[in-house]
Amino acid sequence: MPKTSLDSDSAKKIIQIKKKFDFESSHLNTSFKNDESILSKCFNYNAPDQAKDLGIYPYFREIQETGTSHVVIDGKRVVTISSNNYLGLAKDPNVIKAGREALEKFGIGCTGSRFLNGTLDLHRVLEENISNFLGREDSIVMSTGFQANQGTISCILGRQDVAFSDRENHASIYEGCAVASGKTMRYRHNDMDHLESLLKKNSTVKGKIIITDSVFSMSGDIANLPEIVKLAKNYGASLMVDEAHGLGVLGDRGRGACEYFNVEKEVDIYVGTFSKSLGSIGGFVSAKKSITEYIRHKAAAFIFTAALPPASVGGVIEGLNILSSDSRRRNLLHENTAYIKRGFFDMGIQVNNNQVPIVPILIGDEALTLYMNRLLFEDGVFAGVAVSPVVPPLKAMIRTSYTCAHTKEDLDQIMLSFKSNLQKLGILPQ
Ligand SMILES: Cc1ncc(COP(=O)(O)O)c(C=O)c1O
Repeated sequence: MPKTSLDSDSAKKIIQIKKKFDFESSHLNTSFKNDESILSKCFNYNAPDQAKDLGIYPYFREIQETGTSHVVIDGKRVVTISSNNYLGLAKDPNVIKAGREALEKFGIGCTGSRFLNGTLDLHRVLEENISNFLGREDSIVMSTGFQANQGTISCILGRQDVAFSDRENHASIYEGCAVASGKTMRYRHNDMDHLESLLKKNSTVKGKIIITDSVFSMSGDIANLPEIVKLAKNYGASLMVDEAHGLGVLGDRGRGACEYFNVEKEVDIYVGTFSKSLGSIGGFVSAKKSITEYIRHKAAAFIFTAALPPASVGGVIEGLNILSSDSRRRNLLHENTAYIKRGFFDMGIQVNNNQVPIVPILIGDEALTLYMNRLLFEDGVFAGVAVSPVVPPLKAMIRTSYTCAHTKEDLDQIMLSFKSNLQKLGILPQ
């Protein structure tokens, strides 16, 4: 983005914020003297308070009401570009009805782990429906997508094995690799040469698995699955793909990037979540039955935690029916995505030329990003921010995401607000 001059009010405000605010270094500063107590890191952590004092703290905003494209925060109705409710299913009347029926029949929770005492017939129905939709032998419904990744990797990656993981993969994949007894090699984001060089170096290792997000949650990039599949074949590695942001969004039938690239049969383990396109909470793993049976009996994150509650299971069963039978929502989502990307591109902002409804707006400096986020909110636009360590230092961004429920008026309002505030901050020319 071109850097231009800043209007004088904003300049004063930013100088004031930058002087007082050192969010980045407070985030990164984890080194403490040996003689300090274990809790001193907590007592010394003041970045959130600093940001609150300056009125730019962006987290845990309390939402008083939700719609599909709007929410109410601090009594103010704002358009949201901070949700992953891509298909608008979180408040769909049929989904709510199905959730309510399950709630009334089974109560608010399962009060136990699926392993011992928390599996309902509804969990099994959902597993069968997922397997049928994806054309896979078997599926396991877990309590979150985070646990699906963490639990699967932690039990699959044995002592002698090596995982090859994209550096931009989701935190749950990092956590799974950290807990597993095998080794993990991280390849540069979407860099197939780097992946190949690591596979080559480890060619004598028998147990190899490549793990990748299909759609990366911050950049909105799509993994180069055709090339990854080739490398997996050439080097005898298995392949696990996290379709958290691909499910419902990509592919003719909404089965994700694996369908979009026509590589479904080459993917050994498919992980998904109900917290994005399906508008709820929960996660799943789909694979050959021998693989799922192993995970079902070995994954601690599945066995030692309470089952997904009935209302969520019931709602997701109906949501999946809609997702798999009605492509209108996906088409609308693609239209909205193309519209907003074209608008940002015309403003001079770099965007990914793909169908992914995640559109990061890179600002760079953390204080400036948080201030920009506040200006957007003042204009009636609620967005999320990503700062270090979620993204590398000085790569702070406003993370925007779109749904099929946004209207053209919503999208125009969002673009107008970005344009005027980026101009105000001297990031775009007047
Ligand atoms: C790529 C990716 N994988 C997994 C998850 C975890 O999903 P859940 O929110 O269902 O725990 C997320 C959620 O942010 C994600 O973006």
